[in-house]
Amino acid sequence: MSYLKSARALLALFGLVAAMAAAQAQTAAGKLPNVTILATGGTIAGSGATTTTTVGYTAATVGVDALIKAVPELQKVAHVSGEQVFQIASENMGNDNWLVLARRVNALLARPDVDGIVITHGTDTIEETAYFLNLVVKSRKPVVVVGAMRPSTAISADGPINLYNAVLTAGSQDAVGKGVLVVMNDQINAAREVTKTNTTTTDTFKSPELGMLGYIVDNKPHFYRASTRKHTVDTEFDVSKLDTLPQVDIAYAYANVGPAAVNALVAAGARGLVHAGVGDGSLPAKVRPALSSAREKGVVIVRASRVGQGIVARNGEANDDQLDFVVADTLNPQKARILLMLALTRTGSTKEIQRMFYTY
Ligand code: SIN
Repeated sequence: MSYLKSARALLALFGLVAAMAAAQAQTAAGKLPNVTILATGGTIAGSGATTTTTVGYTAATVGVDALIKAVPELQKVAHVSGEQVFQIASENMGNDNWLVLARRVNALLARPDVDGIVITHGTDTIEETAYFLNLVVKSRKPVVVVGAMRPSTAISADGPINLYNAVLTAGSQDAVGKGVLVVMNDQINAAREVTKTNTTTTDTFKSPELGMLGYIVDNKPHFYRASTRKHTVDTEFDVSKLDTLPQVDIAYAYANVGPAAVNALVAAGARGLVHAGVGDGSLPAKVRPALSSAREKGVVIVRASRVGQGIVARNGEANDDQLDFVVADTLNPQKARILLMLALTRTGSTKEIQRMFYTY
């Protein structure tokens, strides 16, 4: 009898231990963040003819489910779900895609059961999409844009580790309130400052001079700095009611350039023009009258620089006050275009638009 009693007690103890272990596992699982992966295409979803094909492959062929399945480690660090938003190479990313993507991101982040978002994207325009979202996402929750330089079929493809690091970052409390991030090559960069600096290498993404925000090491994002410009919940831009964005184009300066590009862009209906000037945004003598006459027609002109680093100084290489031009501050021309488009959804005042360029 007493033997039976102690056997039952032992069994009960085992049961209790097992239940505690199960409860513990459940709690641990319950603590995993919910991260939604929105897939848009790019090389991260690309495939090549052979394992050594790292150029001349086809971007945007692998679906989001396959991307997630290829990295089973994701399940250990987050509850991951995926949606295929687009399946395109990022040179074809357009304003309409951005509006769709931004609305989806905002809708998902408004839900209490979504802790962070990862967007898989081609690297060619990743910095533009990231900066657009940085200005229009209305949440402090992490949004991480990620790509890869090698297709999924290549030896040492960088997509899986980049995706894993992106999910880690999107699920991290440390990434809350940091604005939209680009995570690649074990590094975290801010959307405003990051740019592609090399056509093919895996360490292509840098924030020239201003520096990256941190690293991903040992399964954890480590932040060392933050971008000081306003973003996400602190901007005045609202895409929820926008069907289109105003047409804004870029005219590039070079030795011997004439006014043809500026005139053509204005004739094609540009409401804003970013001039990617030489040096400190200098205006070649043959282009200046075309820009000035565009301004007289109501086109907003932003003086940027093709150099890619440094401030374009107001009233430096041109008298912006007199010409009624705006300067891009440190934004490169492709990002200045995005801010100008969004600015034009709010105002036509160059004074106000200049304020925005010094704010975002
Ligand atoms: C693309 O931008 O879609 C192709 C190139 C890449 O993702 O690296």
